[in-house]
Parts: sequence; structure tokens; C-alpha cells
Amino acid sequence: MWDDLKAAAEQGRDRSILGLFDADPNRAEGFSVTALDLLFDYSKTQIDAATRDTLMSLAKAAEVEAKRDAMLSGSKINDTEGRAVLHTALRNLDGDAVLVDGQDVMPSVLDTLARMEAVATEIRESAFTDVVNIGIGGSDLGPAMAYLALSPYCDGPRCHFVSNVDAADIADTLRGCDPERTLFIVASKTFTTIETMTNARTARAWLQDHGVSTEGRFVALSSNAGAAAEWGIPSERVLGFEDWVGGRYSMWGPIGLSLMIAIGPDAFKAFLRGGQAMDRHFCAAALHDNMPVLLALVGIWHNQGLGHATRAVLPYDNRLSRLPAYLQQLEMESNGKSVAMDGTTLLVNSGPVVWGEPGTNGQHAFYQLIHQGARVIPCEFMAAAEGHEPDLRHHHDLLIANCLAQSEALMRGRSLEEARAIMEQKGLSGDELERQARHRVFPGNRPSTTLMMPKLTPEVLGQIIALYEHRVFVEGVILGINSFDQWGVELGKELATSLGPLVSGDAPADEKDGSTQALLGYVKRYS
Ligand code: F6P
Repeated sequence: MWDDLKAAAEQGRDRSILGLFDADPNRAEGFSVTALDLLFDYSKTQIDAATRDTLMSLAKAAEVEAKRDAMLSGSKINDTEGRAVLHTALRNLDGDAVLVDGQDVMPSVLDTLARMEAVATEIRESAFTDVVNIGIGGSDLGPAMAYLALSPYCDGPRCHFVSNVDAADIADTLRGCDPERTLFIVASKTFTTIETMTNARTARAWLQDHGVSTEGRFVALSSNAGAAAEWGIPSERVLGFEDWVGGRYSMWGPIGLSLMIAIGPDAFKAFLRGGQAMDRHFCAAALHDNMPVLLALVGIWHNQGLGHATRAVLPYDNRLSRLPAYLQQLEMESNGKSVAMDGTTLLVNSGPVVWGEPGTNGQHAFYQLIHQGARVIPCEFMAAAEGHEPDLRHHHDLLIANCLAQSEALMRGRSLEEARAIMEQKGLSGDELERQARHRVFPGNRPSTTLMMPKLTPEVLGQIIALYEHRVFVEGVILGINSFDQWGVELGKELATSLGPLVSGDAPADEKDGSTQALLGYVKRYS
């Protein structure tokens, strides 16, 4: 099947995007899809009808629909860990049965949601002014991203997110907090992650150093209730979830507690409803109208087809500034793999390098490379028609104008003739005109997509996050990999554990390679 994609890529690589618009006046409509509140426009890419058919054939050959149904019905599709993949159950607000090993998990999911609401309401109504979520990776990035994204809806205590084992993170956070009025949430699926447990111990010591009791000041979010209890957090303050919720897919359940505390249970449930609505769309829409499938196919086209190894996520929304980091984990931890389910080596690129920053800031930083660098970087723009500052509407108009300008500039480019004319107008001539003109050429024909939403509400954010989750799933299915394990993070963790005593000087370093020994020597000399 990859041969067909390669052949399509050879044909499509230099296809003029502007030419596609000239040939088809309805291209914007024909190469975009709407679902729920979202519009996904992929018309500014080299994809034509034949390419799309090829891509659809890939999805069909990979049995995306059957695999989607297997995931949603609780099959153990994460087969290197022997687990089901059911984060969708966390937003299944209607409670329709979802079976794992023949058991309906929904009563327990809804019970946990009710317990989350009770804890969140209690904290919102308490004297706590600050909530510190201590977690990392999936136990941090989702709630941290959404807390910022939904700040116009935040009416609870201030939330902070401490993740890094670097003491700077917790020290800087606690400096602004009152020990009497600070609640800590220890968020860790495993309750063993070294960064989180180190920060949690430091938080406990901070309270004790200030003569404040830890009682009632810790909540645990974990699948490992035993470890939370051992750590001293009473069971009524532990919100649990099952192993079929992957860390990077976990913000819909207890890991989202900080968000629920910040925006309130009703707004949190609106977020869940948005995710659930996207699940329904993913299940019901035919492949050619299915937004997650189309997003995935555009990704496959650019990465595995055309060989563009990175994609830039460019939200024109300052409050989505943590979205690229969130998507980095979602996409790169899920699909950054080169071994297929059956143990064979992938014949194509693994999932893409995802990076980005909000516009317009990025324009003044890295867009130079996007426009004129030698590599093509497919760009994924994102914007809301309406902002949250109606009195400052002119800011929003400028924001949108910039977003649309960038995708147009990438597509249109500027030819040497056009650049020469500009230089001529500036009064240049001869060799100097030619030299200066060449610096002002934009190759153009660079692909981008745009995701539009009416306004970034909790419900719309839920739709977007579920959209990306399903996109990652579909890309993983087409690649034939397991998107739900993360063995690639293990080796570094193991080595860090064994390096601990070497850094503190409690064990000799002579078994280590020359570089590691020299770097340890440097630390010893200067610490
Ligand atoms: O980095 C690996 C990882 O296991 C992620 O998948 C996970 O989100 C993160 O660490 C945190 O894990 P935990 O929630 O168990 O502390």
C-alpha cells in the first residue's frame, strides 16, 4: 500500500496549489470538512481528488473503522501492555455500557466523576487560594494546557502546575503561595514517577517547615491507590482510574481535577461533552467526511508521503500556547515508533516531529524558516472567529488577518519577477537589484491546513482535543503501530536511576563511557 502513496507523492510533490484553486473554483468547499463546531480546511495542500482517493484506500486497507470499533468496545488493542484503550469512556456522559473483560466500567467512571465534582466543589468553596498540581507528562500537560486555554472560564482558586524535577519549578511556584491556603494534588497514574514523587515530598516538607499540617492538604489522582495510601493520603482523597486510561489521554478523568476546580464542574462537563460529541462524529461519519480521519490522512500525506518530517502547530490564540507541548506528547509519545505491531520494522517514517508556538509571536521568531528555509514544513493553523475580549475586537481582527495572511503567503509565495519589480520601485538596478531581489523571493506552494472554531469554549476545546486524539489513533493504525505504549521512555529512566549515586559521588563512575565520566567530573569540580 505504501507504493501507491509513493507514486501519488511523486506525482503530487510539485503540484501547484494555486493551480488547483484555478482548476476548481469550489476547492475550498470540496477540500474542507465541518464537524460539530469545527471547520477543517485542507484545500491549501497539494492533495487533489485522486490523492485523496489513494489516502482513503490506505485508511480502508488498514481497517481503520474496524480498529476504531475494537478500541471503543474495550478490546485490548494496547497489546504490548495487554490493556484496553478507553479514555473515551471518561467522557461517555450518558453512561451507555462499555465492557472490559465482560464488565461494564461505566458505573465506576460515573461514580468517580461524581466524586471529582464533590471534591472540586468543596475546594472551590474552601479557603484555599492556590492549588498546585504536581505531575508530569500526561499528568501535567493536559490540565496545564486547558487551564490556560480556558482562563476566561476560571472562577475558582488559582492553579499552578509543577512538573520538572528541577527544584526551580517547585521553588518558584511555592514562593508565591501561602502554606495555610495551598492545596496539593499529586497526579500520577503509577504513583512512582521520580519527578512527581520528589516534588510531592518537597511540598510536604514545605508545609511542615511552615508548621502547617498536611492533613486535608493533599489529594491523589492515581491508578495505584495502594501507593497513594502508603504515602499517607486517605482513601477519600484519592481519585482513581483504571489502567485502560493512558497517561497522555487522561485529562478527561481525575487527572483533570485541577481544571475542574478552576472552571467548575459544569464547565468541565461541557468540556467532556465536546469530547463525547467528537467521539460520536468519529464513529458515525463516513471516512471521507470524518474529520479525525481527514486530519490523519493529511498528516500521512505530508510525512510518510512527501517526507516532511515535522509539522508546525500554529494556534492563533495566545491561550493555546501550551497546546503544541500537549500535542508533542500526544503525537510523539503515541506514534514515535519504528516497530510495527507484529514486531517488524516500519517501512516508512514514524510519526512526525510536532512543534509550534502561538501566532502572531511565532511570526517574529521562526516563520522566516517556514517561508524561505530549504525544508518544507507543513503548517497547521488554528483560530477562533471570536475572541473573549469583545471590547478589544480590533486585536482579534488583526490576529485573524495575520493567520490568514500566513497561509496565503505560504501558498502564493513571491516570484523573482515580483521581487525584481519591488526592487526596481525602490530605485535599484543592475547587479545590486538582482542580488537584493533574490533575497526577497518566497518559493511558495507550501502546504498548510486551518482549523477554525467559533470561539474557544470548554465544549469546543473538548472537540479539538478528542479530534487530535483520534487523529493520532488513525495515523497509528495506518502505520500499523501500537499508539498506546511508550517503551521508548524507559531506558533513559533506568539510566537516570543508576546515575543518581554517581552524581552524588556515592558510587564510582569507571564503568561509564568516557564522555559520561568527563561530564560527571565537571559536575564534581563545580558543585
Ligand atoms: O514519560 C513517560 C510517562 O509514563 C508518560 O507516559 C506519563 O504521562 C508520564 O510518564 C507520567 O506518568 P505518571 O502519571 O505515572 O506519573
